[in-house]
Amino acid sequence: MKILVIGGTGTIGKTIVSHYQQQHQVITAGFSRGDYQVDIKDTQSIADLYQQTGQLDAIICAAGEAKWDLFKNLSEDDFHIGLNSKLMGQVNVVRLGLDYLNDQGSITLTTGILADDPVIKTSSAAMVNGAIHSFVKAASLEITNGKRLNVVSSGVVMDAYEKYQSYFPGHPPIPMDRVVLGYVRSVEGRDHGSIIKIYN
Ligand SMILES: NC(=O)c1ccc[n+]([C@@H]2O[C@H](COP(=O)([O-])OP(=O)(O)OC[C@H]3O[C@@H](n4cnc5c(N)ncnc54)[C@H](OP(=O)(O)O)[C@@H]3O)[C@@H](O)[C@H]2O)c1
Repeated sequence: MKILVIGGTGTIGKTIVSHYQQQHQVITAGFSRGDYQVDIKDTQSIADLYQQTGQLDAIICAAGEAKWDLFKNLSEDDFHIGLNSKLMGQVNVVRLGLDYLNDQGSITLTTGILADDPVIKTSSAAMVNGAIHSFVKAASLEITNGKRLNVVSSGVVMDAYEKYQSYFPGHPPIPMDRVVLGYVRSVEGRDHGSIIKIYN
């Protein structure tokens, strides 16, 4: 397979890349690193990326930001960070990516446990995660030619646990090999419109 991993230089993305690059052609895109640079907040940048990659068998997005702060501190502009990056960035990865996806190919997005089990300071991040889950369920109803769309939602991953553990008291870190299995299920299984949850 020819697989594009947007966010392929990040904590989750590089684990997916190292799994797949043994037996497949993997292209990485990051904001400042990777084979190609892309800003998912910018639709033209996503279009330019796909023009460079050409046709693909799998598109994985493990990128997208949202502002973390107490709800009382979040301005409207702060909410727009998550809306523009994590939500519409990933929606546009799908919207434009379908034209570059081979029949039977898959697109896999990334959210996280906050959609179902939020912690403080995540009203924006939890909101966009939940929106992506609804988007995947609805958009998948209209996707044809055997193309599939799923989202992987994991808990705090082991390799980022040190950074995030104080925000997630009592949450178990998810081993990286278990996180990767979520993407493998989306790419190689038959799921379509699934929210693949890896929470423990
Ligand atoms: N870490 C966790 O425990 C966890 C758990 C569940 C869900 N998630 C979600 O999974 C996603 C990836 O998390 P992570 O921990 O792997 O993040 P990370 O280590 O910070 O990596 C982020 C990746 O996204 C790229 N990126 C950043 N801004 C971008 C933009 N505007 N356009 C395109 N690419 C961009 C980065 O590229 P450069 O390297 O070039 O900067 C990097 O490859 C995030 O949406 C996060 O919320 C994370």
